[in-house]
Amino acid sequence: MSSYRPTLDDIVALCKRRGFVFQSAEIYGGLNGVYDFGPLGTLIKNNIRDAWKKSISSPDTTMLFLEGAILAPEAVWKASGHIDNFNDPMIDCTNCKKRFRADDPDIDINGPCPHCGKKAWTQARQFNMMFKTELGAVAGHDAYLRPETAQSIFINFKNVMSSNRVKIPFGIAQIGKSFRNEITPKQFLFRVREFEQMEMEWFCTAESSHQFFDYWCASRLAFYQSIGLTPDRIRLRSHEKDELSHYSCKTSDVEYEYPFGWKELEGIAHRGDFDLKQHSIHSGKDLSVFDEETQTSYTPNVVECSVGTGRLFLAILFDAYHIDTIDGEERTVLKLHPSIAPVKAAFLPLSKKLSEYMRPIYSAMVQAGFSVEFDESGSIGKRYRRQDEIGTPVCFTFDFESINDNCVTVRDRDTLKQERIKIENIAKYLFEMLCINR
Ligand code: GAP
Repeated sequence: MSSYRPTLDDIVALCKRRGFVFQSAEIYGGLNGVYDFGPLGTLIKNNIRDAWKKSISSPDTTMLFLEGAILAPEAVWKASGHIDNFNDPMIDCTNCKKRFRADDPDIDINGPCPHCGKKAWTQARQFNMMFKTELGAVAGHDAYLRPETAQSIFINFKNVMSSNRVKIPFGIAQIGKSFRNEITPKQFLFRVREFEQMEMEWFCTAESSHQFFDYWCASRLAFYQSIGLTPDRIRLRSHEKDELSHYSCKTSDVEYEYPFGWKELEGIAHRGDFDLKQHSIHSGKDLSVFDEETQTSYTPNVVECSVGTGRLFLAILFDAYHIDTIDGEERTVLKLHPSIAPVKAAFLPLSKKLSEYMRPIYSAMVQAGFSVEFDESGSIGKRYRRQDEIGTPVCFTFDFESINDNCVTVRDRDTLKQERIKIENIAKYLFEMLCINR
């Protein structure tokens, strides 16, 4: 295995070259902190979402899924504490007009501006990161784009409980867009203004909440290993008291060692009964549950697991990116876990004359539901390189011998081992590859 660690520039270039991610509105000069996902990036994202859904669902846990609205009225954000607390400290350079986060470790407010070199800072002031908008034509109907998906889960807690046969403990999960007006979006997909979150709120009793907190911490770490992230590059870090969000009494971050340091990948927060209590008070609706056993009402506690799909996408690319040398030639290879790889297999006839034999095999695999590609143009070496770079785990080649022996050669992306298998066994081969690596 190569020890090469990709830089952010390597990843950005790969994403553009292979159509994983594009700067949004690029032809108009781009929109800072906003990205579009291209065809292969979309496939990877879908695979990440599927893997995440599987990871939080099990026969022993009740998990319900929800799709809440992106817009919510001011009252929701007042109750949740986001209007009062969702702030970052901001400073401006009065010389070059650049704006920075005052708490950015790269900024020394006693030193010069890193952009223009002058020392002409404004005072630090609080900047609320929510995007505000107005509904309809009537003034005074303010709404906000959600800065986290979690609140639509809390405000629908009673609706979900009363329309589904569920009992505490259970979880409500959601994948959806969130928006934060970050002062300085940076590090590509790491800190952006429009992003997707995969969030799960686990509702339980106060007594069981710390045990569940530990359970979810262990479960989330296991998830990252199961999708192939290098174990040494993932760790759990408990928040110090002064780092805790306004809603949390205990938080641990799953951190990934990005090339720019150990950074939060996922937050696991003990939110206590903060959110349900706040929404009860502000809406005037009772959000407590009745315990048949003790014949008493209580407000459930919540353990939350929250990860950004794009931030995980970035960690996966950093982890999978390798440069190998084969026969003196360098290749870039994405050693993606098969469950995450956008294309599971490529079908490559050795000569265009063989396409008519191989295309029906490829079509059968598409019909069977596999995400596969057919590529007949260019040298076989070039075609292998392209598949390596997009992380395709295996390539099947059809040669002149295949016409007689009904076999294809399968080449493994990582080991480069080649073996011949019967054409009739290709579907089984792919199925096993995906099942074993599930
Ligand atoms: N509901 C809790 C919550 O939103 P958070 O720690 O602010 O907590 C959770 O965010 C996760 O969302 C982070 O761990 C990160 O993966 C992702 N995330 C947060 N802000 C982001 C941003 N500006 N760009 C990309 N991902 C972000």
